Amino acid sequence: MRKSVLVSGSNGQLGKALQEASLHFPDLKIDFLDRYQLDLSQIGTKGVEIAWPNELLGTHYDYYIHAAAYTAVDQAEKDVKLCFQVNAMSVKHLAQYLSLKNTKFIYISSDYVYHSLQNTPFTEKDLPQPKGVYARSKLAGEEAVKQNSSDYLIFRTSWVYGEHGKNFVKTMDRLGKEREEINVVFDQIGSPTWVYDLANMLLTIIDNGKAGEAKGIFNYSNEGICSWYDFALSIMQFRGHSTKITPVRTTSFPLPAPRPPFSAMDKSHFKEVFGLDIPHWRAALQKCLNRFHD
Ligand SMILES: NC(=O)c1ccc[n+]([C@@H]2O[C@H](COP(=O)([O-])OP(=O)(O)OC[C@H]3O[C@@H](n4cnc5c(N)ncnc54)[C@H](OP(=O)(O)O)[C@@H]3O)[C@@H](O)[C@H]2O)c1
Repeated sequence: MRKSVLVSGSNGQLGKALQEASLHFPDLKIDFLDRYQLDLSQIGTKGVEIAWPNELLGTHYDYYIHAAAYTAVDQAEKDVKLCFQVNAMSVKHLAQYLSLKNTKFIYISSDYVYHSLQNTPFTEKDLPQPKGVYARSKLAGEEAVKQNSSDYLIFRTSWVYGEHGKNFVKTMDRLGKEREEINVVFDQIGSPTWVYDLANMLLTIIDNGKAGEAKGIFNYSNEGICSWYDFALSIMQFRGHSTKITPVRTTSFPLPAPRPPFSAMDKSHFKEVFGLDIPHWRAALQKCLNRFHD
């Protein structure tokens, strides 16, 4: 029987990448919900009935991929209540509901949960120490899934980019066309993730049955590590822009939300359990940029 999958956040970076990747998985039946069909700001709020969309009421799904989230990291410092409602409270209700329906919950979390002075790649066993509202809300979302879902997978990912939505790669490409010189921070180290690799990985493990067998938390990004400065240099190089990039410290770019100085993740656990290779970030970046049109 075809496995069925429901995805929220259909218009986000991951939602769109899942829609594109789904074309290569004819054995999966995948439905998508946008924010109007499943409004996370309302689910479980006081005095408001939980109005589950028909897709959730009428149909059984084997998997639910929670690609929707409050992702405005700096705005979250002001929108604390909304951020926690969307990223954690709604997740608790969804996890409870989907658990009753025997639907496996796949939650997408963030490298921002790893924010300490460690400077070697984080494993899933390292203690999360999120700083900032968004980061804390993502960890709270993880906890909501763990406590309310009988069967779940949590993927912590980082520096997500693709052709759609707002992201660093698109910003650098635009600046490469507009500016002769820019400054980019070199004291934040992590790993970029091409959203298509993330989407393709999720559908692959559902399709091959591994997602059904596994449970727990997994780190997932592209392989290799870099600073935002190195990442920007590669983007300019691959796109043929001659913009000069000066490496600067984070203190030159004061922003409301704190960023982890080092959030590279060890993916050994993922590779061991799911048996998949992960593309290096530069190879992934080149593939993604090949799709960009001038
Ligand atoms: N982007 C990154 O660098 C990054 C890094 C680490 C982890 N992550 C995690 O990866 C996941 C996917 O991120 P992404 O980059 O695809 O995010 P994104 O492009 O910002 O998409 C988020 C989606 O959530 C939807 N959404 C926001 N508020 C909602 C609400 N109240 N009710 C229902 N839907 C709502 C948005 O709807 P609209 O399209 O209508 O606005 C959008 O479709 C998220 O869990 C994020 O926390 C992202």
